[in-house]
Amino acid sequence: MSTGPLPLHDVDLRGRDVLKEADFSREELQYLIDLAASLKLRKRTRTEEQLLRGRNIALIFEKSSTRTRCAFEVGAYDQGANVTYLDPSSSQLGHKESAADTARVICRMYDGIQFRGSAQATVETLADYSNVPVYNGLTDDWHPTQMLADFLTMTEHLQRPADDISYAYLGDARSNMGNSLLVMGAIMGSDVRIAAPKALWPSEDVQAIAHARAAESGAQITLTEDPYEAVTGTDFVHTDVWVSMGEPVDIWDERISLLRPYQVNADVIGSTGKPSTKFMHCLPSFHDMNTVVGQQIAGRTGMVDGLEVTDSLFESDVNITWEQAENRLHTVKAVMVATLAD
Ligand code: CP
Ligand code: NVA
Repeated sequence: MSTGPLPLHDVDLRGRDVLKEADFSREELQYLIDLAASLKLRKRTRTEEQLLRGRNIALIFEKSSTRTRCAFEVGAYDQGANVTYLDPSSSQLGHKESAADTARVICRMYDGIQFRGSAQATVETLADYSNVPVYNGLTDDWHPTQMLADFLTMTEHLQRPADDISYAYLGDARSNMGNSLLVMGAIMGSDVRIAAPKALWPSEDVQAIAHARAAESGAQITLTEDPYEAVTGTDFVHTDVWVSMGEPVDIWDERISLLRPYQVNADVIGSTGKPSTKFMHCLPSFHDMNTVVGQQIAGRTGMVDGLEVTDSLFESDVNITWEQAENRLHTVKAVMVATLAD
């Protein structure tokens, strides 16, 4: 790829909110992925042009974050913009001020607003009450900026378009990552396999969105309780933590008993039948005992080689999560540039 002209506004997303994948057409999402690839190349070749000088972006975090916060901050700085980070306790939002009032204040001072929190309704309200783009940095339901990074990672890894890739997601499939991987793949025309116990499948509403979008794109959608059926022939196997942020800690034991058969390990990866299959995870991951939670769970259950993924698999060359994590930066930057640049 050359560093020719940036494909700026070839698809015009100026002023748009990024709240969930289903709000976008396949062409719009592909445009964001392509723009991210161009921005990635420019950063690598030190030819990046700053298109967001003088812009100010508010980063509101109700839940903790490493990758998403860093991607927004570094992406903004690379592009010449400024950010304000508002952590879960230091703004009035939720405690003393509603989302609607917060939005009406913040949009008077800022050009864009990132929100990470529990309720999708909160980020939707911020968007309804502000006249600047609002970005969903993760809610309980959706993780759209993660999807752009995941699709950039998969398509650049294989050098094939999204409608020529297959992937499985194993684990808690009724949470943000399961929902988003199902619907994003459906929009993009991919071969998507979701494997989870039925109790943890995406809701009927989310399945309906996926089937409707798959009918337009030609995507193949499979929901199954059989992890081995799901991974057969896939290019990528994704998973996520078994208990997400905001869920009660006492749900761990129930979740482990439901999801233990869906752990990604050498046996599962071997069952794809493809030596080239790669492992993906939005991170953070409980793959070893070097975290407080990892230690506690291992002490209680004896699962010392990881939870949703074994440490040996995670530490093998099957893992492409570091590229996936880096791509958070380029794709989040693409979102800001596409929506905020002149
Ligand atoms: N994947 C992801 O969203 O990571 P953070 O929680 O660290 O932002
Ligand atoms: N499902 C996880 C994703 C973290 C990026 C969570 O919500 O905690």
